[in-house]
Amino acid sequence: MRVSRLLGGVAAAALVASVLLAHSAAAAGANPTFKIANGRFERDGKPFRIMAGSIHYSRVVPELWADRLQRLRAMGLNAVEVYVFWNWHQAQPGPADFSTPSRQLAKFLQLAKEAGLVVMLRVGPYGCGEWNGGGFPWWLHTLEPPVQIRTYQSTYISAVEQWWAQLLPYLKNSGSLYENGGSVIMVQIENEFGSFGDVAGNPLDKQYMEYLVKTARQHLGDNIVLYTTDGGSVGYMSRGSLNGSAVYTVGDFGPGTDPHSSFAAQDQFNPPPMRGAHLCSEFYSGWLTHWGEHMANTSSSGLAKAMDTLFSLNASLSLYMGHGGTNFGRFAGANGGGSSFEPHITSYDYDAPLSEGGGHGYGSSGEDKYAAVQEVLLRWARKDGSPLPPPEAPAPAVASLGTVVMTGAAAVLPIGGGNAPNTNVFQVLCANQTTTAAGAPPPAFHTLGVSDGIMLALTKRPGPVNASGGLLDIGRPNDRAQVFVDGAFAGTVWRPSAAPVTCPAPPGPYIKNTMSVLVEDMGRLNYGKEMFDMKGFGPLAVPGASQPVLTLNGKAYEFTEPWVVCGMTLDDGLPEKIEFKPVQVGSPIAPWSYIQPAFFRGVLATPASGPVDTYIATYGWSKGYIWLNGVLLGRYWETKGPQHTLYVPASLLLPAGQGNELVFLEMERPNVTLMVSTVAAPDFSFGVRCSVEAAPAAGSAAVTWGVESAAESNQVWSVPAQGATGPIRLASDPSLCLQAGPEKDPSTGDPAAQLAACSAGEKAQQWTVAADGALLCEGSCLDITAHATAPGSAVETYACNGGDNQRWSAVTAAGGARIVSAMDGQALTACTAS
Ligand SMILES: *[C@@H]1O[C@H](CO)[C@@H](O)[C@H](O)[C@H]1NC(C)=O
Ligand SMILES: *[C@@H]1O[C@H](CO)[C@@H](O)[C@H](O)[C@H]1NC(C)=O
Ligand SMILES: *[C@@H]1O[C@H](CO)[C@@H](O)[C@H](O)[C@H]1NC(C)=O
Ligand SMILES: *[C@@H]1O[C@H](CO)[C@@H](O)[C@H](O)[C@H]1NC(C)=O
Ligand SMILES: *[C@@H]1O[C@H](CO)[C@@H](O)[C@H](O)[C@H]1NC(C)=O
Ligand SMILES: *[C@@H]1O[C@H](CO)[C@@H](O)[C@H](O)[C@H]1NC(C)=O
Repeated sequence: MRVSRLLGGVAAAALVASVLLAHSAAAAGANPTFKIANGRFERDGKPFRIMAGSIHYSRVVPELWADRLQRLRAMGLNAVEVYVFWNWHQAQPGPADFSTPSRQLAKFLQLAKEAGLVVMLRVGPYGCGEWNGGGFPWWLHTLEPPVQIRTYQSTYISAVEQWWAQLLPYLKNSGSLYENGGSVIMVQIENEFGSFGDVAGNPLDKQYMEYLVKTARQHLGDNIVLYTTDGGSVGYMSRGSLNGSAVYTVGDFGPGTDPHSSFAAQDQFNPPPMRGAHLCSEFYSGWLTHWGEHMANTSSSGLAKAMDTLFSLNASLSLYMGHGGTNFGRFAGANGGGSSFEPHITSYDYDAPLSEGGGHGYGSSGEDKYAAVQEVLLRWARKDGSPLPPPEAPAPAVASLGTVVMTGAAAVLPIGGGNAPNTNVFQVLCANQTTTAAGAPPPAFHTLGVSDGIMLALTKRPGPVNASGGLLDIGRPNDRAQVFVDGAFAGTVWRPSAAPVTCPAPPGPYIKNTMSVLVEDMGRLNYGKEMFDMKGFGPLAVPGASQPVLTLNGKAYEFTEPWVVCGMTLDDGLPEKIEFKPVQVGSPIAPWSYIQPAFFRGVLATPASGPVDTYIATYGWSKGYIWLNGVLLGRYWETKGPQHTLYVPASLLLPAGQGNELVFLEMERPNVTLMVSTVAAPDFSFGVRCSVEAAPAAGSAAVTWGVESAAESNQVWSVPAQGATGPIRLASDPSLCLQAGPEKDPSTGDPAAQLAACSAGEKAQQWTVAADGALLCEGSCLDITAHATAPGSAVETYACNGGDNQRWSAVTAAGGARIVSAMDGQALTACTAS
């Protein structure tokens, strides 16, 4: 068994001892009991303080379940809180999967027991947790009449019914409940319902919650403690919980909040004998992170102090998270609504005390968060006279496994014009092909029988062809669409902004006259009123939203030709369906200077000493997905950050010396050398590997940065007048000029914007200020790479296309002007390697 291999003999013996202790009630012949009585939790008749932490088995490979549970117990936890995500078990309607190793929930619950931990199980049906759709399966969208989630509506309730009629008996019959000798002491119904529905104000919402409670009781019996979790105030609890004895009402709040008011609120809903038992079921130990944000990083000492305060109030808590893990596959969700859409990164490290890779987490001042939490937990365990845990297992082995050069490639779209299929990939993609009625827009993913992934929509280019191109607005695809005209990239549409795409003017007579739109699902919303969003081209779940309107040059445009649409779920096993062709940099299949979605394949060798954990670095790549030995590790978005490495647990590698198949689906541009390195530690650094405050020199990069006084001496320039051509000098050092190249932009291979000693004869320093705000150098435009809006984004020169990322305005500042992007209001700033 994995755990005995990882633990030293001493630790293993201690683990056995603690398990025996935990089962003393059963050993003595008494039935194990857990209840809330006398205003406190009582386990086997004795007072019990819950010291829990969240861990999600769907975010940890099953080979490491025992390992992570052991480390949480060693940290001092006596309980774990666990979400059961519906879509993890029911990828399709019908029989739920509890047998694939990663879906063996009962085994996980048994391993928790063996580690000396009891379990608070959150069975939903909704789960939030930054998980795709909050756990709701995609196929709910296919049911008729249309599902209304999280209320008493017939279609929704019958879907819940057939899910719970499998889940709950499985829990009962597998002996997972505490009273049956298992680990589950409490079961949570719904989740933060008061942030979505209103039990007090809407009779159907009340009926829904009562239905869930009744159904849980029917299957799980009278003894199990049922609870609800809501925001930590009376308002949330009134909307989300059921006042009275049917459920135990709990609040959640972070270390920065005064717990007294939340506990007082709890007391207004929990009658005796529950009243007085206080619990915070999501005490935030870190925080979630979206693409384009700095990695969450919260204080370790602040957390420890707040835990201490809670314990001194005789309260119980559950850290959210104890161990975050990884959003493998396509299971990362998104936040958003209205004009906002914020997908979560692949790592779910969360800055939790136990890090994604199983080591210690570190907080904002570099303090060891695991050690800080452990000190508090063990001190209170001693005070409470609770059994102490065994020591932590030795740290997991982790190493760089060197560098891989990709040697095979397969383009997703036909190369070089037309829709002539690039045989194999196109065939895989188009297994479920649909043709729309002429004039109708392309559909949503679920109408193709495809859960999510990528969708390709092909049609004839909208006409009549305008000699100077045309501004095509394809509305608001959910979530990201890349538009190609005759195989050439025209632009990207991103859900919140949905800016129109400029279709380039035909370079010559249009022969194929085709348009391809590649839509990428970036994860379903997991929280908020607009949850339950469709993917592909369907309307958003916004009241009154309609199908997107397609316009060309501002006029409603009806495509006269139908769209041919196909969708592909990005899943484990996909790479084996793809026929890779040998590739080398510069070969005809690889026009790397253009955005060209393609699969790449290489081989990563397992060291002779055997598998160890590693991290795959995405340096120089742009955006896409990574498979290792057919397992989809998750999404990367190097040009956005902050995640630059994807975690690979050792169990995904083949035995010593063998070659592991590494496959990237790169949606934009690959690393120009087609290289991938592996590293021994995660990298969450925020894109900027240079300083905007240091004094610049020849060779410094020019990046985008917010307008800030601290960066002022590096972001004020002297700029030629509109229509004129000349150098762009740095105002604080007029001997330095903006130059295109000779460095290449790290992710594209195009000439990077940088500083160089001014030289009158240097063509790469001559800039023309065009009327539309473009800054041209040698016929190309100053361009923000990859349309990233994060500060520190790279700037290059690239074929002019009229995009917002190529339009700038000179905003007067002391001594010169700031060069401000029309895309995001950030300013061109000299940045010096630090
Ligand atoms: C819950 O019900 C009890 C008993 O009816 C009542 O005293 C209490 O005020 C209610 N709590 C809230 C928050 O309405
Ligand atoms: C905590 O519980 C102990 C023992 O029951 C009791 O003496 C003490 O007053 C309680 N403290 C608080 C703040 O409720
Ligand atoms: C948080 O910041 C500290 C100090 O820079 C660093 O040591 C730690 O690794 C960071 N934690 C995370 C999760 O990035
Ligand atoms: C095509 O649709 C069918 C049923 O709608 C589904 O079972 C199958 O997985 C889909 N195929 C692909 C490649 O997505
Ligand atoms: C041609 O396209 C340009 C934008 O690229 C637009 O300004 C112009 O109005 C279009 N002409 C016609 C006749 O649609
Ligand atoms: C390409 O990948 C290699 C290996 O990770 C890395 O050293 C190099 O810096 C990357 N190229 C760029 C331009 O980032």
